[in-house]
Amino acid sequence: MIRKQILRYTANQRTNHWLVAILFFMAGLSGLALFHPALFWLNNLFGGGPWTRILHPFMGVVMFVFFLGLVVQFWRANYFIDNDRLWLRRIDRVMKNEEEGVPAIGKYNPGQKLLFWTLLLCMVALLFTGLVIWRAYFSEYFGITTIRWAMLLHALAGFVLILSIIVHIYAGIWIKGSVNAMLHGWVSRAWAKKHHELWCREVTREERPRSDPPLSKKG
Ligand code: HEM
Repeated sequence: MIRKQILRYTANQRTNHWLVAILFFMAGLSGLALFHPALFWLNNLFGGGPWTRILHPFMGVVMFVFFLGLVVQFWRANYFIDNDRLWLRRIDRVMKNEEEGVPAIGKYNPGQKLLFWTLLLCMVALLFTGLVIWRAYFSEYFGITTIRWAMLLHALAGFVLILSIIVHIYAGIWIKGSVNAMLHGWVSRAWAKKHHELWCREVTREERPRSDPPLSKKG
């Protein structure tokens, strides 16, 4: 029997994703509270200044660990394939919602893939620079110049991460059905075919009766 719905995310993957999202907001807001006096009021969310300073690095480390869970599961699906280059060259058509001449893509589009690797880079940078500037445990092992550079890079990586997540959330809302997939796990066959045709063919291949002709390629 051919099912109308396709599973895009398992319950474990969804739980993992939303835990990272919650931790991102907690680590992000506490980080902003420590970043500039104008944002100091945000520390009220975490029990005051000292608590914010104590909790922020722990929230960051936990976020990193859960994020690694996403990386392990989605790593392969974010490798670039040949069609991705053409898709990027035709980005103007994608933005205009045109389908003509836009190549079929896999589980993620090149924009999502670029974002994935950017997130990973930011997370790794935040972890290492964060350890260097973690006064309570590690800063004593580093010189003041290293600590200053680490602080600058930490703020920079945090800034890029926040911007990337704003783009990520916007894109998720823009492509109707995406947020639902991350909430409930399922997408319609039509959604999969429209947005991720190669992935759709891959996951539905086993379901088609042997006599079926293969799905034709888009020009
Ligand atoms: C409120 C915040 C967030 C929303 C609304 C959101 C929404 C989504 C949606 C809808 C998808 C599914 C996209 C698809 O299947 O095509 C997704 C995937 C994903 N999200 Fe989020 N997300 C949020 C926060 C985050 C954060 C903070 C991170 C990590 C720092 C993150 C990392 C990912 C990753 C790695 C994927 C899989 C896509 C890939 O591997 O390329 N998300 N998100």
